Amino acid sequence: MNKKLFFAFTLLLSGLLLSTSCKKEEEAPQEFIANNQTFTGFKSFTKVAENIGPDPSLGAAHFGNDSTVTRYIYFKDNVAASGGSYPVGAVIVKESKNDEGTVNMIVAMAKRGNSFNTQGGDWEWFVLTSDGTIAKDEQGNDMRGTALLNGACVSCHAGAETDYVFSK
Ligand code: HEC
Repeated sequence: MNKKLFFAFTLLLSGLLLSTSCKKEEEAPQEFIANNQTFTGFKSFTKVAENIGPDPSLGAAHFGNDSTVTRYIYFKDNVAASGGSYPVGAVIVKESKNDEGTVNMIVAMAKRGNSFNTQGGDWEWFVLTSDGTIAKDEQGNDMRGTALLNGACVSCHAGAETDYVFSK
């Protein structure tokens, strides 16, 4: 390689390195946006609890007062909190149902991150259908958001010990 070419090559290389390192700094904070695929097959996630009967922090929510109902709690990839909070992308599903089939309610929470909802731990709340897709309300809108059910989800879960999560 002649000198001129070598010089040009080094210049190019350092330019490349510089641009990749700049890119890293500009990277947006991580954000996880759940879609219908996020929750499908939730019954194969790690089941961490199976609760029946009343729970003082539950009251009538999730059919806590209905003794026929079992509440199954599934953590995707068995995700765990670290340093008191769950990582971006954490997905937790809960199914409340009874054998009679009169109750079958499925809800979920996903850690979205990126300052999506700093007042609520950056969690997004969901109501799901029985196959794990995101349910629609009467207007046809996805049942998801920071203040789902007029903020009932987030305000009750704010009382949980670890990052809005009761079960683990
Ligand atoms: C009045 C309190 C209350 C309300 C309202 C409430 N939850 Fe819960 N939720 C609980 C409790 C307590 C648990 C713990 C498990 C159990 O025994 O049912 C729980 C469990 C869960 C779990 C499993 C993870 C965990 O924290 O253990 C998810 C997911 C969940 N709820 C989603 C929702 C969504 C979505 C809504 C709103 C549509 C909602 N919850 C409304 C009290 C509440």
